[in-house]
Amino acid sequence: MSITTGDFRQRITVQTLAEKKRLHQPIVSLTAYDYATARLADEAGVDLILVGDSLAQVVLGYESTLPVSMEEMLHHCRAVRRAVRHALLVIDMPFGSYHIGTHAALEQAVRCVKDAGAEAVKIEGGRSRAAMIRRVIAAEIPVIGHIGLTPQSVHRMGGYKVQGKSTGAIDALRRDAAALDEAGVSAIVLEGIPREVATRITAEVATPTIGIGAAPECDGQILVFHDLVGLTFTPAAKFVRRYCNAGEVIASAIRGYAEDVRNRAFPADAECYHLPREVQAELEAGEAAPAIERK
Ligand code: KIV
Repeated sequence: MSITTGDFRQRITVQTLAEKKRLHQPIVSLTAYDYATARLADEAGVDLILVGDSLAQVVLGYESTLPVSMEEMLHHCRAVRRAVRHALLVIDMPFGSYHIGTHAALEQAVRCVKDAGAEAVKIEGGRSRAAMIRRVIAAEIPVIGHIGLTPQSVHRMGGYKVQGKSTGAIDALRRDAAALDEAGVSAIVLEGIPREVATRITAEVATPTIGIGAAPECDGQILVFHDLVGLTFTPAAKFVRRYCNAGEVIASAIRGYAEDVRNRAFPADAECYHLPREVQAELEAGEAAPAIERK
């Protein structure tokens, strides 16, 4: 039975992702971190909305994704939850929330579903995380895997570098993808890997792959919302396609507002509230104004 929302569009579930891979229908995925942007993405028909830990950099101004806390992730996920009616809602488990032990990881994954309304959690890592991922899935929580350039591993990788460029590294990535596939994840994000490698992995696994800096051959694509609309302050990575320059549109709107305030051109009379005519008349006649007592 398919569940429909008030607007009669089909709700996207983890089963829909598998179906889309079978039917060769690309999975449209995007990050969102607040009510307004999540609502725009959902109404535009995005299939999967990720409250990514990229929140750390693009919304909260941290230098990497490492400092963002579970509380911050949950806070933003709740706002997104209130907006999303159609898309599958996925939350990133932040750095530290699943690295200490399986029991702690399970507790944090449960919070994502119970306290923030996420329908799946995303966890970075391949073979080293597979056993823990199985336990999360066994607790009825769908998991999205993430391999390749995994930003939470920035220190181990020695920077944000494209992964899988040597035969050894390609083999390791293929084994990571196979481990996640066998563990039963609902999708695998392939980030920052050569097109040839992403294409090969996509053909090898039954699980849908979602590319970012990967390949058009992936079963879906994901971008960070702020990259897509041009609301960032650092040079964009090669894989980013900017669909508008919202940063410039917003900056120009703010400059216009500031100029109008300084010139007393804002607010205009039409933007002011006015007294009813009779009250105004009484006021002018001096009858309606009670004497103001001054101490
Ligand atoms: O945090 C994030 O936004 C992500 C996507 C880039 C896949 O993990």
